[in-house]
Amino acid sequence: MSTTSATSPSTGLGFGRVFTDHLTSMSWTPGGWERPQVRRFHNLSLSPATMVLHYGQAIFEGLKAYPHADGEIRLFRPELNARRFQLSAERMAMPELPVDDFLECVSLLVSTDRAQVPDRPGHSLYLRPLMIATEVTLGTRPAEEYLFLVIGSPSGPYFAGDFPAITVWVSEDLPRAHPGGTGNAKCAGNYAAGMAVQRSAAAHGADQVVFLDAREHRYLEELGGMNLFLVRDDPGGTTLVTPPLSDTILHGITRASILTLAADLGLRVEERPVTLAEWRDGSRKGSVVESFACGTAAVVTPIGRVRDAAGEFVIGDGTPGRWSTRLRTELLAIQKGTAPDRHGWMRPVR
Ligand code: PLP
Ligand code: COI
Repeated sequence: MSTTSATSPSTGLGFGRVFTDHLTSMSWTPGGWERPQVRRFHNLSLSPATMVLHYGQAIFEGLKAYPHADGEIRLFRPELNARRFQLSAERMAMPELPVDDFLECVSLLVSTDRAQVPDRPGHSLYLRPLMIATEVTLGTRPAEEYLFLVIGSPSGPYFAGDFPAITVWVSEDLPRAHPGGTGNAKCAGNYAAGMAVQRSAAAHGADQVVFLDAREHRYLEELGGMNLFLVRDDPGGTTLVTPPLSDTILHGITRASILTLAADLGLRVEERPVTLAEWRDGSRKGSVVESFACGTAAVVTPIGRVRDAAGEFVIGDGTPGRWSTRLRTELLAIQKGTAPDRHGWMRPVR
């Protein structure tokens, strides 16, 4: 197993710190894609003039493989990652990788390193497909050489602790994404642009950042690497609310799955604009009873406290709420194969 930093005995494997023994790759030139290769996990050797280091044509994905009791290892909705990877590539003027090649590279890595897929509770094999511009030139135009890689990281929970409720910091001035920008692409630059705010969040004792819309700085969008949900309890009933998809929000696969599971549970669902004021006032008055972040790495992570320059508000009693817990349990049961895969989401690795 390759290690980039020490693992802590108290947190087990942690997230994204150790890697399996192999990687899979495909190179692209104007002639097209080469066939998938499996190699030992290795460092890349790049000229300092490699285009990705200067102009940032870099995209990635995140998905997980779970060992099931029948001995199969299954991936959660990998075709959706493959398609989103194509959309990200198109936005960044990178070559489109056929869905079947994406799936083949992911499956090849998992089957090669299947002995390293963790089967302890709360763990899975996190897969990170990525593509970078590898042409060596300082010219500013789309590169003419690319490398697609898949690496695998046996991982535990993204947030330390057993299902904690996190504290978030609201970024009121610095948005993550702009209309017409790259917010719905999974490109490296989106994450780089959020780092300064993530640093402020940490300085304010928060775990993550919630970004607001770039035009009015009023509407909730998403976190740096997770989508956002609120649970409202109104006289008419309970509603799960999430900001609508747009070009400033990543079209999360967990988000889509939660919407389906919520409907299965008979929960009313609304995809509509939500202001920071609604979140704050609703939490204070008791109509917003829960909030959670969701994503491949985060699964469903309750939000207990929200901080901004004006102070703090607490959601519910600040601990994981009933619906967050229920939705997380339902999703994980399907992912781990302890509940029937009623929507056909799990794909065996061959
Ligand atoms: N939003 C952003 C910005 C992300 O990076 C991610 C993670 O991939 C998500 C949301 C959640 O998406 P998914 O559920 O597909 O992992
Ligand atoms: C994922 O959940 O797969 C992501 O890519 C988000 C990242 C912040 C870990």
